[in-house]
Amino acid sequence: MAKRVVLAYSGGLDTSVAVRWMIEEWGVEVVCVLVNVGQDAESSESFDDIKVRALAAGAMDFVVVDAREEMADDFCAKAIVANARYEGKYPLVSALSRPVIVRHLVDQARKFDAQAVAHGCTGKGNDQVRFEVGTHALAPDLEVLAPARNWGMTRADSVDYAEKWEIPIRASKEKIYSIDENLWGRAIECGAMEDPWAAPPEEPYTLTRVTNSEPFEVTVSFEAGLPVALDGVALSLADLIKTLNHRAGATGFGRLDMVENRRVGIKSREVYECPGALAIIGAHADLEDLTLEREVHHEKARLETRWAELVYDGMWFSPLKEALDAFMQETQRHVSGDVRLRFEAPGLMRVVGRRSPEALYDYGLATYDAADTFQHADSEGYFKIYGLGVKTWAARQGAKNATPTKS
Ligand code: ARG
Repeated sequence: MAKRVVLAYSGGLDTSVAVRWMIEEWGVEVVCVLVNVGQDAESSESFDDIKVRALAAGAMDFVVVDAREEMADDFCAKAIVANARYEGKYPLVSALSRPVIVRHLVDQARKFDAQAVAHGCTGKGNDQVRFEVGTHALAPDLEVLAPARNWGMTRADSVDYAEKWEIPIRASKEKIYSIDENLWGRAIECGAMEDPWAAPPEEPYTLTRVTNSEPFEVTVSFEAGLPVALDGVALSLADLIKTLNHRAGATGFGRLDMVENRRVGIKSREVYECPGALAIIGAHADLEDLTLEREVHHEKARLETRWAELVYDGMWFSPLKEALDAFMQETQRHVSGDVRLRFEAPGLMRVVGRRSPEALYDYGLATYDAADTFQHADSEGYFKIYGLGVKTWAARQGAKNATPTKS
């Protein structure tokens, strides 16, 4: 009996060619699974058109899974509480969607009684790592196939291959950009951007074109670490992200241009647009400034870096990542309140106010006016003790640090 494979299918050239190539070269049966993680929002193509292509390529079946709410509630939500930004910048757009896709690949593999899953990634990127490590974590018995790592075809070869097999593709031989998109944003690679010195062209951006040059404010309300309403209107997390993608993106906010370290050891220049993600993380981090106790806050910042690295590196389903999730969750009990965001074209967002019934900010302690409740006399003894070690050290050195090095 032929081996059955469940392929993560996007409808693009590579995964379409992968269907036919695996049938021809490996003699397998292929089920195409398209997981909708929010990429439909900007797409000009319907899933029906994509289905026609999958079947034309030779798939025995084609399944669409709507994972938009799951992407928001199980994945973006954890990234929000972790203020997740890889290398301090990138909010993990593609890295967050791959484990969602993996979950459904494994689920469909069970439904179709398949022995393997497959993806269309090449050997140079991070996404292969996420597919493979993720699958092994959820289904150690399943094999993972990567036809694009084996076939040795250039893009032009793939176009010829699709034509030969009469697969109705839309791509041309000179596709300029590699774009990956979902609810959390868009990742844009290749073309002119492969020169890190060249400014990115306007053309590939869709979420962050300036169409509103009037400054405006939005109030984001949080409950226990998650955004639940915009300007007092309750929204599901998926709708709230989508709304902010459009409202913030219309002012040009949300672009990133960075050189990042891939897991596979390559530095790459990447351009992203993630207006909703960056607005929400910005607001959330600000509310934590108001509500988290200092030691928790500082330790959390250290662990946030680790969390983002693990997720970037394909370790979504791993014991350390899960333990860190538990820590993050525990810190969020009091992260409730409102944050005022002000947007101004082109591309500026500022937090202009925050409030919380759970705030640790105490006006009586903070104020310099007559309402001051701080016990000034308590400071004296405290700092004598606090600075005692440094004082002893300075005395031993004969206060030589007091001499300026330059006159
Ligand atoms: N560099 C980003 C990451 O590793 C984006 C990857 C985009 N993926 C793609 N297939 N174009 O998460």
